[in-house]
Amino acid sequence: MERTLLLLKPDAVQRGLVGRIIDRVEAKGLKIVGLKMLAIPREIAERMYAEHEGKDFHAPLMEFVCSGPAVAMVVEGLDAIAAVRRLLGNTNAREAAAGTVRGDFAMSRRHNLTHGSDSPASAEREIALFFTPEEMLDYQPTMDAWIYGRLADGERT
Ligand code: RTP
Ligand code: MG
Repeated sequence: MERTLLLLKPDAVQRGLVGRIIDRVEAKGLKIVGLKMLAIPREIAERMYAEHEGKDFHAPLMEFVCSGPAVAMVVEGLDAIAAVRRLLGNTNAREAAAGTVRGDFAMSRRHNLTHGSDSPASAEREIALFFTPEEMLDYQPTMDAWIYGRLADGERT
């Protein structure tokens, strides 16, 4: 099982889309193991987007992600990192495929509602920026047997 950070940016909160985005995560069969609402501190935003330091969109990006309440989630599942990014769609929401969060609900490259970790290393680093180990819950959803199949040896497919 893999864990990934899913961030619902301030535009998702302001536009009242938090419930609809979380609904897609749950309906997909992914498991939410951590969830909180917060105003992202500037220092956390800078560390999260360190890879974009020096780029022309860095300053407006910092201003945007710190502009109001956001929702941070840790989502778990088989290949969860790639699965979540597929749910979110292309960074430029105007080009994102219909059926994705950005494709269905957004029209901007910057105000694209969400962030999802892009690799196991990023996921580990980003989760630690927002959650302590105690804030992530370990539980077994009873539906997992139907979501992943019910193989006798415990293997999931
Ligand atoms: P994220 O990191 O937020 O999940 O988005 P991403 O991987 O799809 O895109 P990335 O290239 O990492 O960009 C991070 C965020 O910066 C904003 N952005 N603005 N040219 C621009 O004005 C521009 N490009 C990117 C977006 O909010 C993007 O999600
Ligand atoms: Mg990124």
